Amino acid sequence: MTDLLLLPGDGIGPEVTAEVRRVAERLCPDLTLDERPFGGKSYDIAGSPLTEETLAEAKAAKAVLMGAVGGPKWASVPRDKRPEAGLLGLRAGMGVFANLRPALCFQPLADASTLKREVVEGLDIMIVRELTGGIYFGSPRGIEVLTAGGKRAVDTQVYTTAEIERVGRVAFELARGRRNKVTSCEKSNVMDSGLLWREVVTELHKAEYADVTLEHMLADNAAMQLVKNPRQFDVILTDNLFGDILSDEAAQLTGSLGMLPSAALGAPGAPGLYEPIHGSAPDIAGQGVANPLAAILSFEMALRWSLGRADLADRLFAAVNRALEQGARTPDLGGKLGTREMGDAVLAAL
Ligand code: IPM
Ligand code: MG
Repeated sequence: MTDLLLLPGDGIGPEVTAEVRRVAERLCPDLTLDERPFGGKSYDIAGSPLTEETLAEAKAAKAVLMGAVGGPKWASVPRDKRPEAGLLGLRAGMGVFANLRPALCFQPLADASTLKREVVEGLDIMIVRELTGGIYFGSPRGIEVLTAGGKRAVDTQVYTTAEIERVGRVAFELARGRRNKVTSCEKSNVMDSGLLWREVVTELHKAEYADVTLEHMLADNAAMQLVKNPRQFDVILTDNLFGDILSDEAAQLTGSLGMLPSAALGAPGAPGLYEPIHGSAPDIAGQGVANPLAAILSFEMALRWSLGRADLADRLFAAVNRALEQGARTPDLGGKLGTREMGDAVLAAL
């Protein structure tokens, strides 16, 4: 049985997951690893971005670690066969509805952010993004040609009480182990799905989590508050689309998109899906300069949340911090190290 299934995917994905493999082999040699093509790579080989065999192996593994998917090469592929569709299919197929995206400012990187040091120093936010519902999956959707000329495109934002409750619980539980505050973000001023979101989170809080501080914030205001005073946030709870946007924004607070890992979790005991939140970065793919730390930190989250090795996760986290303290920097952090050299720096710190 596979403990950890690696899905390197496209663009810089194979480069950063190669470093995860080296770290995993050093840190826990007893871990069974397997690897499969995914995204555009899988489409090229098998005609589908996510084959049935890959999904079956993902569901049977303890954890899955994905690199990145997509790129200009597949821009004209029909939408249901695109690399991104493979990722959405994997998330839905694994049932990983709660996406944990920590935005943490590493002490040695406080000057790497485009924001002032005093704004981001010590930042520690956990974004909980709903991952298997909302406008990414709602129907109807599609583009139709109008007889009068032009076209009409539809996407549907849709949430049920149960979907909001289960991801809400994850956010409240996490807050209890942190600074005990949840900020729930939606657009209840213009969207019915936002109204329901606010209503369900309010009820859940009253019934089960009254000890946690709950704040509601409109998603546009949250985007502004994130750059104005990001340290006011502890856990941010939000839907699929707003979570996608707010997590990229939060990543930049920490210095680089190349630093942020994520964990997607489903039912207790089910395998988790771990992904760096950065994309496939086609502009730098194949050059060996991508920052592997987001992928390595995704493996750190896998050790903690799916592989039952919090002890090794702590060691790995400390090693990454030490490598940064010692000045290890890829170009996205203003340095000159390549992907493999950054991997070397982490291994040396281990
Ligand atoms: C992310 C990415 C994906 C998303 C894309 C690649 C489908 O942007 O994980 O944040 O939109 O969810
Ligand atoms: Mg995104």
